[in-house]
Amino acid sequence: MRFTFPCDFLWGSSISSYQTEGNNFTTDWYQWEKERDLEPAGAACRHYHLYREDVALAKSLSQNAFRFSLEWARIHPVPDRFNEEELRHYRAVLDSVEANGLVPVLTLHHFTNPLWFSEKGGWVESSNVEFFLRYVNKVVRTFGGRVRFWIVLNEPMVYVYNGFIQGLWPPGIRSLRQGRKAMRNLFSAYRHGYEEIKRLVPGDPQVSLAKHLRHFCGCRYRGGIFSSAVARMRRDAFNYDFLDRCVRKKVLDFIGVNYYCREYVYPSFSLFGKECRRPHHHEPTNTLGWRMSPESFYRVLCEVFSRYHLPIMVTENGTCQRSDDAYRKFLTGHIGAVARALNSGVDIRGYFWWSLLDNFEWDKGFAHRFGLAHVDFSAFQRTLRPFSQTYKRICQYNEISL
Ligand code: BGC
Repeated sequence: MRFTFPCDFLWGSSISSYQTEGNNFTTDWYQWEKERDLEPAGAACRHYHLYREDVALAKSLSQNAFRFSLEWARIHPVPDRFNEEELRHYRAVLDSVEANGLVPVLTLHHFTNPLWFSEKGGWVESSNVEFFLRYVNKVVRTFGGRVRFWIVLNEPMVYVYNGFIQGLWPPGIRSLRQGRKAMRNLFSAYRHGYEEIKRLVPGDPQVSLAKHLRHFCGCRYRGGIFSSAVARMRRDAFNYDFLDRCVRKKVLDFIGVNYYCREYVYPSFSLFGKECRRPHHHEPTNTLGWRMSPESFYRVLCEVFSRYHLPIMVTENGTCQRSDDAYRKFLTGHIGAVARALNSGVDIRGYFWWSLLDNFEWDKGFAHRFGLAHVDFSAFQRTLRPFSQTYKRICQYNEISL
C-alpha cells in the first residue's frame, strides 16, 4: 500500500554548527576537548567554508527544508558586543538556503556556549540568562523576517544530564542540585526567547525546542512489575517534564521531536533506575549500541500527540550503521512509522534526517557516522551513501510504500 504525505510536508536533514563548521575556538566545548585531551572537533566537516556545497547537496536530494544552528560564540564574542562579520556569514548561509528553495529551520542553541559565558558560571547562574536573551534579540533583529521555524534550544534534558549531572560534557558538573538550577535557567531562557521571537518576528513565527524523546520500557528480565513503574517515571521526567512546563506557560507552537531509540530500564538504587544494556532484548542495535525500533517511534509520536494536541515536526531521526542496508532499513522503517502515525490522526508537519553529513559526535569523536553523505575527514570530500537515494525518492514523490 502506498502512503502519500500531506502536500506541504517538510522533508529535510539537520546539522549543528559545532559538529560541522570547524574551528569554533571560542566555545566551551573547544576548551573542554583541550583540557580532557579528547578527540577534538578541529576542522570538523569544514562546513563553515563549504556550506554552499552542503546546502546544494541537500537540494540535490530533493529536500525542501534544512535545519541548522548558529554558533552563539561566533556571533557574540564578548558580553557586550556582536561580531557583524559572523552575522554576515550566517546571512550568506541563509541566502544559500533560500536560493536552493529550502525552508530554513533555525536552531539558536545546540549544546555549545561562548567560553566567556561559561566562565561567568554558565547556565547555573540565573543572571546569565540575560546574555542569551541579548543574543536572541540580535539574531531576531538581523534575520527575523526570513525565518518562520525557530528552535530555541536543542535537547535541554540531554544537555543538562550530560553536562551537569553526569559530568561527561562541559561544564563537567556532577550534581543533581546544579542540574536542577541549570534546567530552571534553561527553561527561563527558552520561555523569554520564545516571547522575544513572537514579539519581534513579523508574520506568524512558529517557535519550539527540539525535544529528545525515547521509548522507555520495563526490562522483561529484571525487576518484575517494578521495571514498568521505573520506565514510567523516566518517561515523565525525561520526555515530558520540560514540555509540560512549556505547555503550562503557553510557550510552544509545535513540538520538535528528536527520536533515536528504545531503552529498557530496571529498578536500582538511583531514583530513575538503571538502563539494561544486556543483549537479551532482541532489537537490532547501531554502532553506538542504541536499540532501534520503528514501532517505538510510532508509539512515541502517538503518545506525545495525544498528550499535547500540538503539531509535531520530527527535527531529528537517524542512525549510525555498519552497512548501507541497515541505514536503509532504519530509514524506511522510521518514515513508515511517521506515515502510520499520520494515518492514525497524528498531526506531523515534517521529517528531518540526522544528519546530512557524518560529523563530530561530541564525546564520541568522529567514529559514529550518521550522514546521508560519508565525509572523508582529511580531504573533506562528501560522498552520498546509496541509502540517500531511497530518502531522495521519498522526498521527491512525497510517498512511501508501507
Ligand atoms: C543531538 C545531536 C547528536 C545526535 C546523535 C542528538 O541527540 O541533537 O547533536 O549528534 O543526537 O547522537
